[in-house]
Amino acid sequence: MSKTQRVAVIPGDGIGVDVLREAVRLLEAIDRKRPLALSLWSLDLGAERYLRDKTTLPKETFEEIRDTCGAILLGAMGDPRVPGLEHARDILFGFRFGLELYANVRPVKCLDDLLCPLKHKRAKDIDFTVFRENTEGVYVGVGGQVRRGTPDEIAINEDINTRKGVERIIRAAFEFAKRTGKTRVHMADKSNAMKHAHELWYRTFFELAAEYPGIEARHVYVDALCLYMIQEPENIQVVVTNNLFGDIVTDLGAALQGGLGMAPSANLNPTRPGPALFEPVHGSAPPLAGKNLANPFAAALTVGMMLEHLGHQGIETLIEDSVRACVVERQCTKDIGGTLGTTQTMDRLLERLNDRL
Ligand code: NAD
Ligand code: IPM
Ligand code: MN
Repeated sequence: MSKTQRVAVIPGDGIGVDVLREAVRLLEAIDRKRPLALSLWSLDLGAERYLRDKTTLPKETFEEIRDTCGAILLGAMGDPRVPGLEHARDILFGFRFGLELYANVRPVKCLDDLLCPLKHKRAKDIDFTVFRENTEGVYVGVGGQVRRGTPDEIAINEDINTRKGVERIIRAAFEFAKRTGKTRVHMADKSNAMKHAHELWYRTFFELAAEYPGIEARHVYVDALCLYMIQEPENIQVVVTNNLFGDIVTDLGAALQGGLGMAPSANLNPTRPGPALFEPVHGSAPPLAGKNLANPFAAALTVGMMLEHLGHQGIETLIEDSVRACVVERQCTKDIGGTLGTTQTMDRLLERLNDRL
């Protein structure tokens, strides 16, 4: 018997709560047929809690997760009642930075032609993985405002790029390419405009590329990457880029998958043991929250990534196949062409998965 692994479950805000409820049902259903030896630990963290007692991510909770959990499964953070989003930043960045989860891995895979938004392309043309740097860049919070509220106001967020940070995410992308038999890695920056910060990316990328002779290293400016993602996605296999660009291009990537309801992600530290964080790419979608409208497939695919990471090989593919089957049969939510609610969509997914497990 394998040792029980602890998973911190943080639904968070808005549709995060709706989709994580279904994600937990998915885990329970899998466990009934294939015991997963997981112990789920539900945490009340998010806007409700913050509004109640100002708690965001307590130090003791962070440390307990760090020291006892194999994974964190998170729904989404963001609530209009907390306009400054201080709880969301404390919690999301608390984990991403605090656990040094420097690789935000966001697969962009279109599961069926029905979901492909490009009239000249098919689903098979859209299958690549974005490695988004997850601990640096403009997200670090170096900056400030002076002369606030005056016509002379200055507002600054510095773009922080370290050799260590840039090198480790680029290496993670090349290692992934090597491990999965990919032949090309794109690195996207704006070294034409940001000649100090992004020249570091450019130089580091080609230095590391020399260590991976079988893999073509292609530099691309991020604006052009957006063009190629639409015009010729079939030429893209792996993308590595900085924190902000990675955030932006993966929403574009989600559109290529059928929308944010289809996009899963993992936040990993590939070089150190410890809990990894799994979350759909989407946010809390306040207008859909609590209405049984949110697409639970991004969360289901995220569960697949988490189980793969925790050593349950093969289940990720079964979840993906079951999601695809639902999509093809239009047993899904409105955002991807169905008529079902969140819970009913998960019911259908569980039926299809049950046949495969
Ligand atoms: P969003 O991802 O919540 O929504 C963008 C669009 O996608 C909306 O039209 C929404 O209806 C749709 N959508 C998203 N997920 C969907 C799903 N599962 N099913 C069907 N449709 C879906 O982004 P936003 O509106 O820019 O942000 C809302 C809040 O979420 C903000 O507070 C933002 O900061 C936060 N946010 C949090 C995370 C996170 O926790 N990781 C990620 C992104 C945004
Ligand atoms: C994401 C989100 C977050 C980010 C926000 C909520 C800070 O957009 O996870 O994609 O920018 O990283
Ligand atoms: Mn985002």
